[in-house]
This record gives sequence, C-alpha cells and structure tokens, in this order.
Amino acid sequence: MIKEKNIKNILVTGGAGYVGSMLVPELLKKNYMVTIIDLMIYGKDHFKKNKNLKIIKGDIRNKKLLQKITKNQDAVIHLACISNDPSFELNPSLGKSINLDAFEPLVKISKKNNVRRFIYASSSSVYGIKKVKNVTEKMKLKPLTDYSKFKAKCEKILNKYGSDNFIVTTIRPATVCGYGKRQRLDVVVNILSNLAYHKKHITVFGGNQLRPNIHMKDMVNVYLKLLEAPKEKINFEIFNAGGKNQTVLELAKDVKKVMGKDVKIIKVKSSDKRSYHISSKKILKVLKFKPRFTVKNAARDLKLAFQKKIFTNPLNNKKFFNIKTMQAIKLK
Ligand SMILES: NC(=O)c1ccc[n+]([C@@H]2O[C@H](COP(=O)([O-])OP(=O)(O)OC[C@H]3O[C@@H](n4cnc5c(N)ncnc54)[C@H](O)[C@@H]3O)[C@@H](O)[C@H]2O)c1
Repeated sequence: MIKEKNIKNILVTGGAGYVGSMLVPELLKKNYMVTIIDLMIYGKDHFKKNKNLKIIKGDIRNKKLLQKITKNQDAVIHLACISNDPSFELNPSLGKSINLDAFEPLVKISKKNNVRRFIYASSSSVYGIKKVKNVTEKMKLKPLTDYSKFKAKCEKILNKYGSDNFIVTTIRPATVCGYGKRQRLDVVVNILSNLAYHKKHITVFGGNQLRPNIHMKDMVNVYLKLLEAPKEKINFEIFNAGGKNQTVLELAKDVKKVMGKDVKIIKVKSSDKRSYHISSKKILKVLKFKPRFTVKNAARDLKLAFQKKIFTNPLNNKKFFNIKTMQAIKLK
C-alpha cells in the first residue's frame, strides 16, 4: 500500500463560525497551514495574527474564488452553512443557495484541484424523530426541515465524487455546546446556561425530547482525528458524533447544578417533537474517538466566560444569535 502524503494545507469553509473559531487555533497548534473562507457574518476578531493562517472574506457560492483557493489544499473541512433549522424561516432560498446549491460545485472544484480529503459537517438532525434507541449511521434518514433535508442530500452528493485519491467523509454531530471564540448562544445547552446565569430561571419546552450534545472540545477533536486517520478507515464513511444522550430536562438539571441552586426550572408544553438518540459506537470503534467532556463542563466554561464578562450583553446581543444577526444584515 502506498503511504499517503501528509496533510499540510487545510481549507476551512465557515472557519470563522462557532466551531471554526475553536477548530482553527487547534489546527494551527498542530502546524497545519490554514485558509479560512467565510462571509464573516459574525466577525473575525476572534483570530490572532498567525503566519500560517490566511483569512479570506468570501462566499462559497463564488465558484471563481473557490477555483482559486482550493489550489494547493490537501484537505477541505466544510463547515460554512446557514446553521440551525429555524434560520430557514428567514429566507428559504438563501438557505438553499448556500447549504445545497453551492455544495456540489465546491466538491467538484476541490476534487479537480487535487484536494485529497473532503470532510463534511452534516448533522444528526438528518434522522428526524426516532423512537428506537441508539440510532446508527445505517438507519433510514427522515430529515424534517430544509436544513436537515439539504444536509442529507449533500451527503449523497459527496459520496458520488469519492475515490481512492479523493477521500470523502461525513460527520453527523450532535448539537455542539460550550464556549467558542465566536460564541453561539442559540444552541440548547448554551441557551439554558445563558438564561440560568443571567435570569436565574430556565424555561424548558416539553422536556422529554432527547437532545444529544457534544462538547466543543470533543467536536474539534473529531475533526483532528479525521485529518489524521488512515484513509481506508474513513473513505465514504459516515460517523455520528455525540456525547451522552440526555433529555432537555436532564440538560436543564445539569446546567442548574453548575449555575446554582437558586435557578428555577419552569416546564411548559411544546409542539417541537424532534427527538433522537444517536449511537456513537462506530466512531469509537473505527477512530477510537470517545467524548471526554460533558454538558456540565460546557456550562462551567460558559459560567466562567459570563463571570469574566467576556460577552457584551449576552441576553440580547444579536451576534450571539444566528437568526437575529442574519435578519439584521439582510443576508442574501
Ligand atoms: N453548532 C452545532 O450545534 C452543530 C451541530 C451539528 C452540525 N453543525 C454543522 O457544523 C457546521 C458549523 O456550525 P457552527 O455552529 O460553527 O455554525 P456557525 O453559523 O457559527 O458558522 C457557520 C459559518 O459559515 C459562514 N457562512 C455562511 N454562509 C457562508 C457562505 N455563503 N460563504 C462563506 N461562509 C459562509 C458564516 O459566516 C459562519 O461564520 C455547520 O455546517 C453546521 O450545520 C453544527
């Protein structure tokens, strides 16, 4: 077997987002040369100057630009996205143009320019509502929203292009939680933590729905593992990646334990039935990936950030909430 040349140059699309803001510094620590392409919807101030980091403010829908920046890249980690379901309520054609239409050209151009690994951030929301315990990668997908439908479609598109020289891998992460240099406070554990710390009460809608989460540091480690894994272990593979499967009420209780006894949990009825229970056994078996951090760790990191007043106006500042930001900038 011919040994694969080392991966050195990495293009991270959406690298200035929540996950990217924590992944990119780790890539740099490992001496990768990193290029980010991002619309910078949420800014880019979170990156320190680094000679191995190139930041390009640009749109993944711009094929000419993609043609240019995918040259000399060994791997692409594709994070750019109108993330989270309700974003589509904003403007459905915006979501489609970025999350679906731009995908195949990006993959094609990457392959043509000899990128060797393409890692795609899908989502465990592609499973929809599942009663069975431990949803594995082989189970039928039932995406419920445009966001997850497009994720499912892109997974298929990606696999069409895979080859022995163009290694394609899909990762279906649970919801990410915890501190990010570009912070999101619109994902479940972070929402609960923000309310618990600043308002001293948490409203839980429903509560019995299962919402698997993954700590930011574990999420970052998944991407690092995928870059280092032997290609035969990851080519055409799809991996779930999540920590413990907990109900929303359990998440709220964990957050309360960190934020203080005086936090009240208020339960109200909800029509949101999305509930899934993912199995992350495959990624453990194949890549030896085991989550090391918990929801409580995530809440503790956020508590520390709140105490240090790192975030300005965390309850209302639109930059922490994707939809509010996109509405404000009238993104097209
Ligand atoms: N955060 C989660 O809980 C979670 C869970 C599962 C999957 N994912 C997936 O992981 C990826 C990263 O998620 P995140 O939470 O960091 O999201 P995010 O919204 O914080 O980051 C996405 C980034 O993509 C950029 N972007 C959007 N449209 C673009 C375009 N047309 N061209 C260039 N850049 C563009 C944005 O400016 C933003 O910086 C996404 O694909 C998301 O669907 C996230």
